[in-house]
Amino acid sequence: MASEKKYHWFKIFSSAEEMSNNIPPRRTYTIQVDGKGICLVHGLDGFYAVRDKCPHNGFPLSAGFCSDVNSIVCPVHRYHFDLKTGRAVSGIGARVETYPIKITESGVFLGVEEFNWWPF
Ligand code: FES
Repeated sequence: MASEKKYHWFKIFSSAEEMSNNIPPRRTYTIQVDGKGICLVHGLDGFYAVRDKCPHNGFPLSAGFCSDVNSIVCPVHRYHFDLKTGRAVSGIGARVETYPIKITESGVFLGVEEFNWWPF
């Protein structure tokens, strides 16, 4: 039985308009949430959030760019990571962590998955 993921939701913008004003199309924007560097990307069909750390060698993905197939491209070795799944599109069999974004009337929120380490 698959368990449903639970998230802590962190407010990152006061509105969708504020987010759009700060992140032009196909650009990145860096924030810190829950002690993690997060790379926000204004992709081809919306906004995405990935860990700001390339799984290949740790370089900040926010220094890269959004490709025309909706992936984030690391500027160092040019590996592409799908913005929806985080999976490498080319280069290596790795995956960058992705985070859901929720837009509500009270603002824009980023979800960080809760981990329950208690086994019982
Ligand atoms: S450090 Fe990102 S592809 Fe190598």
